[in-house]
Amino acid sequence: MKKIVISTGGGDAPGLNAVIYSVVMASQSRGWEVYGSRQGYLGLLDADELIRLTPEDVADITPTGGTILGSTNKGNPFAMPVENLAGEIQIRDVSDRVMKNFLRMGFLCHIAVGGDGSLEIAHRFATEKGMQVIGVPKTIDNDLQATQMTFGYDTAVSTATEALDKLHSTAKSHDRVLVVEVMGRDSGWIALNSGISGGADVILIPEIPFDFDTVCEKINDNVLHDKHYAIVVVAEGAKARDHEAIHKGDGEVGRSEKILGGIGEYVAREISLRTGKDSRSLVLGHLQRGGSPTTFDRLLALRFGATAVRLAENGDFDQMVALSGDQMIAVPLAEAVKGRKKVPLDSDKVLTAREIGICFGD
Ligand code: F6P
Repeated sequence: MKKIVISTGGGDAPGLNAVIYSVVMASQSRGWEVYGSRQGYLGLLDADELIRLTPEDVADITPTGGTILGSTNKGNPFAMPVENLAGEIQIRDVSDRVMKNFLRMGFLCHIAVGGDGSLEIAHRFATEKGMQVIGVPKTIDNDLQATQMTFGYDTAVSTATEALDKLHSTAKSHDRVLVVEVMGRDSGWIALNSGISGGADVILIPEIPFDFDTVCEKINDNVLHDKHYAIVVVAEGAKARDHEAIHKGDGEVGRSEKILGGIGEYVAREISLRTGKDSRSLVLGHLQRGGSPTTFDRLLALRFGATAVRLAENGDFDQMVALSGDQMIAVPLAEAVKGRKKVPLDSDKVLTAREIGICFGD
């Protein structure tokens, strides 16, 4: 009887439960057992957090958002925040304990579902500790370069587009500029795709540093064409020319990257000062990570899960499943974690946006 363990790490994304479902069912059809590690690696550290997953346990989870296993951004076993007896938080390397439990349980492999951070950790376990791992790419940001698409992204874009659709009427009623901050970290995929589909006048993305003069010119130009409102979509990682991205505080203990946020409010304030127009900002935030996955995300997640089990059967470890065209492929994890996928400035989406009158502030 083969046994595998699955974990979900990093920010959640719609489709995680579909991957879990698929892994459990594809394993069941091979007569294998599946265990779920709660909160990322916690289940591999503490047996109470390791749960057996049967087909009955996962029967209805495919259409649900979130992850039945829970997830964390602060669970890197190589640098884990641990409370000592004095109640102080210390960073410790508990990776050997994880590996010991993995071997003690007799797992064939670990299916690590996560974004770049979680996949990097999985790769370290493979290369430094000899763990047999398979990665499954997840993130609403769609910023993993080795796969054409991650699941969760399509749902996030749909949610953002729906929000933009709703904002037109109120912006128009009040002759206002509405600035909508969307997620995506250092990549502008969510902003670009929702902005084009949701009829934005201005889209600001990290890949194109913007100039307030150009942004305001576009808004004033709207007025000349008898359009007295404007919708501005700004990616959380966007930055004004010669400025840095805006972060919220200094970050969190046990987490490597800083938390982005605040650019929407800043842009709205500047637009208001420079054009004299009423401006409001809103942050879509975690709404983009919630809800039921779209058909596209479900299907992608189900295919990723089944492909991961196929790789495990073939002994193809230290690989990540990926989408290429309409095919499922395997990419070495070493390649998958090398860099982030950015919006290419010569892509047809950027060209289309420019041709239909959308301003990028450049
Ligand atoms: O990576 C996914 C993501 O939603 C980013 O778009 C965002 O910057 C970050 O996670 C937010 O993290 P948290 O859920 O910790 O606020």
